[in-house]
This record gives sequence, C-alpha cells and structure tokens, in this order.
Amino acid sequence: MPDRYAVIGNPIEHSKSPVIHAAFAKQTAENLIYGKILGDPVQFEQETERFFRQGGRGLNVTVPFKERAWRLAASLSKRAQRAEAVNTLIKMPDGTLRGENTDGTGLIRDLTVNHGCLLGGRSILLLGAGGAARGVAGPLLEQGPERLLIANRTISKAQYLVQQLAGEGNTDWIALEDLEGRQFDLIINSTAAGLNAEVPAVPDGILAPGGWVYDLMYASEPTAFVKWGRSQHAFKSLDGLGMLVEQAAESFFLWRGVRPLTAPVIAMLSAA
Ligand code: ATR
Repeated sequence: MPDRYAVIGNPIEHSKSPVIHAAFAKQTAENLIYGKILGDPVQFEQETERFFRQGGRGLNVTVPFKERAWRLAASLSKRAQRAEAVNTLIKMPDGTLRGENTDGTGLIRDLTVNHGCLLGGRSILLLGAGGAARGVAGPLLEQGPERLLIANRTISKAQYLVQQLAGEGNTDWIALEDLEGRQFDLIINSTAAGLNAEVPAVPDGILAPGGWVYDLMYASEPTAFVKWGRSQHAFKSLDGLGMLVEQAAESFFLWRGVRPLTAPVIAMLSAA
C-alpha cells in the first residue's frame, strides 16, 4: 500500500502540489500517493487529525491554515517556530505531529541554486509583513545580507517582525513613504496585493542597477510585480514558481529522506 500524503487549504482546486509530488515520487520511485483536501474553515483541526488517524503520513498546509497548523503541531522546527506558520506536518514515529516551514528554504534555494543570486553582503527590501514574510525573513538573514529592510502598509506589523528577528542579523523596518531615494540589490514582494493585480505602493528607481526582483506569488501569466520589476530594468524579475517547487522538494525530503531533482519539475510546470 502506498503511503498517503496531501495538501490542505481553501481554496485548493488550483493547487499544483499534487502534480509536483507525483512527479517527485515517480522520479525517486517512492511508493506514495498525494491528494488534495478542501479544508473546512471551522473543522480544520478535526480534519487534519482524522487524516493522520486514518494512516496519513504527511500534510502540506496552505492558505489560510498555516497559523492554525502551527498551533496544532505538538513540536516545531526552529524555522516553523520563528515563522509562526507551518506548511508541512509530519507524523512522527511516536504518533505526534511535527510542524515544519519549508517556504524560506524554498525561496533561498530558488534564488541561490537555481538562479545564482548571491545574497551575502547584499541590501534586501522585503515588502509585506504577513505570514509569507515571516516564513522567509529568518532564512534570508541566515544568508548574511548587508541589510534586510522590511516595509509594510501597516507599519506595526513590520515593527513586530523586526522585533522577532532581533539578534539574527542586520534588519530594520521602513515606512513605504521613506523608500524614495534608497536603492536595493534585491526586492522581494510577499504581499497579497497581487491577488488584485496590484503592486505595493513603492516608488520607481529603488532597484539598484543590476538588481533582482522576486515575487513570492506565482501565476500562469507574469504577475503585476514581475511586470513592475521588468519596468525597473531588473537583471532578473522572477515569480514564485521555483520557490513553490523547492518548498515542495524540501517537504518531500523531510517526509521521505530523499531529495528529488527540481529542475525537470520546474521545466514541466513552466511549459504547461
Ligand atoms: P500571507 O500569509 O499571504 O502573507 P497575510 O498574513 O494576510 O497573508 O499578509 C498579507 C500581506 O500583504 C500583509 O503584509 C498586507 O499588508 P497589511 O499588513 O498592511 O495588511 C499585505 N497587503 C495586502 N494587500 C496589499 C496591498 N494592496 N498593498 C500593499 N500590501 C498589501
């Protein structure tokens, strides 16, 4: 019998995780099946517990349940603890649930391994301070950037995130209005503005010559922020497809102890 895995979220219809994990399983000859579950806003905890009671081995958790999965997990990795969000649940040998967050690792691997973007010594601007930003901020600081500035529409949330990152590297918050005249080597969009085809209110000219732009969001067409990056003459203006596949690969590795190749899967999805 194959081991059972799934992704739970709401909405879930368009999730690419089942296709990605099926490709990983085929490539590595791991005996597993991976489904999708439309999570109920009220019953998320019960549904999750039922999945594991019925033999499930691992779950990916997506919007809007990552914080609730973080609360539900009996133990947490450092990455998940810091993010206050869990995108990967693992059934441990003693039957308890362990929470992990592979989003940050996914972003870092896509930037550095797939695209050759060096982050050490660079100045980085992170737009947004919600769940997605919390997942990537710590892992970004681990890369030793010169500075990580966090800008958010609601300043208090950026301040809170900076407070949480204290002692982990050179980081600070900045008001969106104060960005004028500054320059960054890498600008990352973690806001949900793209859901309405909007970009956060940032001035032109804040991307350093040869700088990079990265939108954590992914869509079949170039996202509004990727287009903004192109308009700023970014060396590369990337969407989150690579990160999506990389975070999945990290989850797969945590569950199975085998690291799948990501390049063929990214190529397959890009061509789709
Ligand atoms: P997620 O888990 O996707 O990060 P979230 O925790 O709700 O979702 O956070 C959404 C982020 O997108 C926040 O930083 C939010 O800014 P506020 O904290 O000011 O609400 C940001 N955001 C959403 N819509 C935005 C818009 N139109 N312009 C700028 N920022 C936006």
